[in-house]
Amino acid sequence: MKCVVTGCAGFIGSHLTERLLNDGHSVVGVDCFTDYYPRAIKESNAAGFRDHPQFEFHEHDLATGHLDAVVDGAEYIFHLAAMPGLTRSWIDFDVYARCNLTATHRLLESLKGLKSLKKFVYASTSSVYGKYASGDENLPTRPSSPYGITKLAGEQLARVYLDEFDVPTVVLRFFSVYGPRQRPEMGYHLFIKWILAGTPIKLTGDGLQVRGNTYIGDCVEATLQTGLKAMPGETFNLGGGEITTIIDAIRTIERLAGKPAKIERHPSRPGDQLATAADVTKLWRHLGWKPTTGLEAGLAKQIDWQRGLVS
Ligand SMILES: NC(=O)c1ccc[n+]([C@@H]2O[C@H](COP(=O)([O-])OP(=O)(O)OC[C@H]3O[C@@H](n4cnc5c(N)ncnc54)[C@H](O)[C@@H]3O)[C@@H](O)[C@H]2O)c1
Repeated sequence: MKCVVTGCAGFIGSHLTERLLNDGHSVVGVDCFTDYYPRAIKESNAAGFRDHPQFEFHEHDLATGHLDAVVDGAEYIFHLAAMPGLTRSWIDFDVYARCNLTATHRLLESLKGLKSLKKFVYASTSSVYGKYASGDENLPTRPSSPYGITKLAGEQLARVYLDEFDVPTVVLRFFSVYGPRQRPEMGYHLFIKWILAGTPIKLTGDGLQVRGNTYIGDCVEATLQTGLKAMPGETFNLGGGEITTIIDAIRTIERLAGKPAKIERHPSRPGDQLATAADVTKLWRHLGWKPTTGLEAGLAKQIDWQRGLVS
């Protein structure tokens, strides 16, 4: 099958692209290497498939580039490109509006009347629910950050293009994805880095925030199954099925890394989520998908990967 992955050099996009290529599909990848984190990291994420014969790369900003050549003949489009992260969205709102909304709009415009298209998977986030994102897809959407607002608006835009122009949209709301290549500013990446280096962990809030993290391999499998099997118009929560508090996750990392954490307390930041735990019953009922990697096994893989980064 012919797939498009936007954000193909990012954390999740690079794993998805690799999986699609390994399964024998062809992939057109788009990325513009935003400066959210260094380009060199994204280049290294994509290094394993950049020269794959079934892979074609377009260095395009979706908010401005010409997209007809990118989507031509596409059967499955996985739209992962976005400005992620809550904190920066308070200060760089224009960039979030451009990458998460204008880019999504331009992409959807290019899909009107695209006969080959079987599924458009929009990567959304638990941040559309806001501070308490624990439960199933019927939780009220009440974002607590500009990031969550732009991602929710992107969902709504994709729904309108389904209703009005038959773009076969499915929305997947990711819950804190982790594992090798996790973005360098994300919590587990930082905790592991600081514990391995013996520097203090900057812990925001009381550490009792609840997290239902998703291992990257589970995230990729569910995304693929959604592309293949989900009904257009559906929205799914995608999480790891196991719940922990942040402080317990730090204790697990300490144990796996064999080093103690020094904890430095900081106040919580505006918009911080207090609980994120996906009920994934709907993904199981509709697609027969369940997460298979527990937190301890997933963190062990991420620690191994991060040990390689420092050596
Ligand atoms: N990582 C998580 O835990 C998580 C949780 C919830 C939702 N998500 C969503 O999953 C998707 C992927 O997240 P990620 O963690 O891999 O982030 P990432 O930053 O690693 O990847 C996103 C990629 O998109 C690219 N990009 C951004 N704007 C673009 C534009 N206008 N044109 C072309 N490329 C552009 C970036 O350069 C980057 O490589 C995002 O949509 C994000 O909102 C991620």
